[in-house]
Amino acid sequence: MKMQFVLLGALLIIMRSTSCLEARGNNYEVLQPNVVVVEVNLADPSPMVQVPLQCQESHEHEEIIWRNDDVPLLQRGNEINITVEEMLGGNYTCHDSMGSFLNYTLVLIRKSSRKILTGSQYTGYIKCSTQNYNGSFQCAWNWRPRRTGEVVFVKAERHSQVSAITCSLSTNQLSISCLDQSYCPYSEELDQIFVNVGVRYLYRLEEYSLTFFINEIVKPDRVRITRIDTRRIQLEYPDTWSIPHSYFPLAFQVMELPRRGDCSCESQQTEKINTIQDRQWNVRKGYVVCARAQDALCNSTWSDWSLYIFRKQRLQCRKRGYGLSAPVCSLQTCFSMAVGRWLAPGPQP
Ligand SMILES: *[C@@H]1O[C@H](CO)[C@@H](O)[C@H](O)[C@H]1NC(C)=O
Ligand SMILES: *[C@@H]1O[C@H](CO)[C@@H](O)[C@H](O)[C@H]1NC(C)=O
Ligand SMILES: *[C@@H]1O[C@H](CO)[C@@H](O)[C@H](O)[C@H]1NC(C)=O
Ligand SMILES: *[C@@H]1O[C@H](CO)[C@@H](O)[C@H](O)[C@H]1NC(C)=O
Ligand SMILES: *[C@@H]1O[C@H](CO)[C@@H](O)[C@H](O)[C@H]1NC(C)=O
Repeated sequence: MKMQFVLLGALLIIMRSTSCLEARGNNYEVLQPNVVVVEVNLADPSPMVQVPLQCQESHEHEEIIWRNDDVPLLQRGNEINITVEEMLGGNYTCHDSMGSFLNYTLVLIRKSSRKILTGSQYTGYIKCSTQNYNGSFQCAWNWRPRRTGEVVFVKAERHSQVSAITCSLSTNQLSISCLDQSYCPYSEELDQIFVNVGVRYLYRLEEYSLTFFINEIVKPDRVRITRIDTRRIQLEYPDTWSIPHSYFPLAFQVMELPRRGDCSCESQQTEKINTIQDRQWNVRKGYVVCARAQDALCNSTWSDWSLYIFRKQRLQCRKRGYGLSAPVCSLQTCFSMAVGRWLAPGPQP
């Protein structure tokens, strides 16, 4: 999949520093220079929040008129107060007396309900994973049908640490690619990573967040399978897996399927799965092999299956789009299992 990324890191830093402009006692917060988010208490009998808007830093224009989504407002002047009622956010623009556009402020309403991204509180809304321990990770999400939104902000940091995580947002706004520059693969990960994504649909803002250790989201890329002789194969570490392999061992599993089946590794629930130690496997005649890998010291996600068919034999099975969906495993805290690795003397990075 070809993705183009726009750099978000610099923007994020600006955003977080302006959020301290948050006016205490007032239920609004400046998210970005042109974006204000309002907290409306719907339990209030007549929920209303006053928000001050400023058109320009300088006062070069005598008369300034305002519009909300092109509807003219009664208030005039460089600074006005608007009243946000219930769910009514908007895009407030200011203009000079001739009607020329000068500036705008997007007024969003913060919602705690979850309507913009697909998922549930049980499955989560954002999925993060990484192919290795080099400090990079990716997170992805999906819009609900008819709710194609826009990412307003992304925040990724470690709790209680000077954060060195930068993220870039994909142009389709459905994923981020992040790198923790201060991450050391050879020392214990003390703090979890906190990812917070703000998305808007029309004028409602929803925030989604999750926390994890890198070792909980590790999912190796597919294993490579090489042929040793007529019946033996060897499973190879994925190229993207962390090195040295003795320090980052993978556990491998192999499953044999009859060649006459549909040759889909994913759909086989009943086949026996063999965990192997030496990465080699004798393939029985009339069978194809599926193999996958998992971090040997951590019960994190298995890689997608790789399918191997001896080239010499004619392919009898119908090929399907295997491997499109990853096996879904719940992320478990694998701290105790990982401790063994962290206690082991590591190579000098
Ligand atoms: C436009 O408005 C934003 C605040 O909404 C402000 O930070 C910015 O300085 C304004 N731009 C100009 C040219 O005054
Ligand atoms: C907006 O409201 C603030 C606080 O309530 C007040 O101090 C300020 O004078 C108001 N500004 C305008 C233009 O009405
Ligand atoms: C708000 O209005 C400004 C000026 O017309 C425009 O650049 C901006 O894209 C609008 N934002 C939204 C979310 O409609
Ligand atoms: C980390 O691994 C990913 C996937 O292999 C790679 O694209 C990226 O360049 C690596 N980053 C660093 C800093 O080594
Ligand atoms: C590893 O995780 C899987 C899926 O969550 C679970 O079924 C299995 O019992 C776990 N194994 C260990 C050794 O914790």
